[in-house]
Amino acid sequence: MTRAYSISAEAVAAERARVNEDLAQVDVSRVIALDDLELREMGPTDVKLRILAVSAEHNIDHAALADTVNIAEIRGGKIFPGNSAVGEVIAVGADVTRFKVGDIALTHCNGEPDEYGYPITIWAYDKPDSIGWYGEEAVVGEWQLVSAPLDCGLNLWEIAALPLRAPTAYHLWRRALGIFRLKVGLEHLSRLNVLSFGGGVGELFLMLAKAEGHNAYFCSGSPERRKALEEMGIVGIDQKAYNRFASRDDVKGFSKECRTLTGGVGMHVVCDMLRGPVFAAGIAVSAREGVNVSAGWQLARSVEYNSAALSLKQITLDHTHYETVIGCSAATELYGTVFKPTIHHEIYSFADLPRCFQEMHENTQTGIPIVRVADDLPESVAAIS
Ligand SMILES: NC(=O)c1ccc[n+]([C@@H]2O[C@H](COP(=O)([O-])OP(=O)(O)OC[C@H]3O[C@@H](n4cnc5c(N)ncnc54)[C@H](OP(=O)(O)O)[C@@H]3O)[C@@H](O)[C@H]2O)c1
Repeated sequence: MTRAYSISAEAVAAERARVNEDLAQVDVSRVIALDDLELREMGPTDVKLRILAVSAEHNIDHAALADTVNIAEIRGGKIFPGNSAVGEVIAVGADVTRFKVGDIALTHCNGEPDEYGYPITIWAYDKPDSIGWYGEEAVVGEWQLVSAPLDCGLNLWEIAALPLRAPTAYHLWRRALGIFRLKVGLEHLSRLNVLSFGGGVGELFLMLAKAEGHNAYFCSGSPERRKALEEMGIVGIDQKAYNRFASRDDVKGFSKECRTLTGGVGMHVVCDMLRGPVFAAGIAVSAREGVNVSAGWQLARSVEYNSAALSLKQITLDHTHYETVIGCSAATELYGTVFKPTIHHEIYSFADLPRCFQEMHENTQTGIPIVRVADDLPESVAAIS
């Protein structure tokens, strides 16, 4: 038995009733609750982890609001969420080869790879029977673990920010670049203009672009997050100066700034994890042959576009989800050299995890939010915590 956070369909319904279905008033901290969880028996290919730290992920917001699907209800009334963790190996099954007791491991959340490795489902979300890692201990298959690069130069909290977001960004970037290169080869253009909107994934996407020598632009409403990226040479654009694209004039103003920044060319690659009003703004600033890539729908699931206009400009929309299993390992190689995440100034305690999620919901955090789960940390991470 371990302590782990759950989201129940009952709690979702109670909170929706409390706010008369006005989702803007939902308090996520009232929906996610500390629970008891019976861990499954260890099998021969399983690893038991003591969770050290986790990052808060936005899909919990969707689960608590039930604004896309009511995932707790679909999953039989309750989910144990959490698909990004750093843990200490405390037991291994007889057939486990890559880990031993005492090792530090990261989780990935590809719940069920299809024949080409792409996830059909996400672990601890829509993968049936999957149990997540917002708990004190977990039993996971060895295939779900990646060795933690403790010598990458990041501290433990920065490493904890990356297991879900870095593979997502890595996949988005290699897809977007591959598609652009299908249209425009290196002999024509080597340096691209790359734009992303706010959020941890978008920030990591721009770090990849910058590391490969491209011009990178970050359009965010958060001065702290813009400042952190500006220190890496990524140009900040204040999204609030354009009222988060509330009107066509706001989009026009943003387009004008992007044209000025890019010498009239526009953005060759746009990463938009948000949709909603952000989508139209991203399309408006696209260069000819541009690629607009997304793996998120934080503000809206549906988008509308003028197919003729996009055809004339040769613009491609691409939809990704999460990395392949081997791609997650490849993304981990870039921790510290390319991926230097901005983390929120407070490291939340395990007891404060619900508050962490409410503050994420309110969009008041200054970087990726991290929760410390274990009070006592192993010697192997003492130097980086
Ligand atoms: N498919 C996948 O595998 C995958 C993986 C990770 C995330 N996601 C999804 O991608 C989305 C972003 O996740 P994330 O982890 O990158 O984000 P995050 O670190 O949780 O940050 C959320 C961002 O949302 C932006 N935001 C909040 N309210 C906004 C509004 N009204 N208008 C415009 N921007 C707003 C904020 O940008 P500002 O800086 O402008 O305030 C904030 O930085 C989420 O929907 C998440 O579920 C998908």
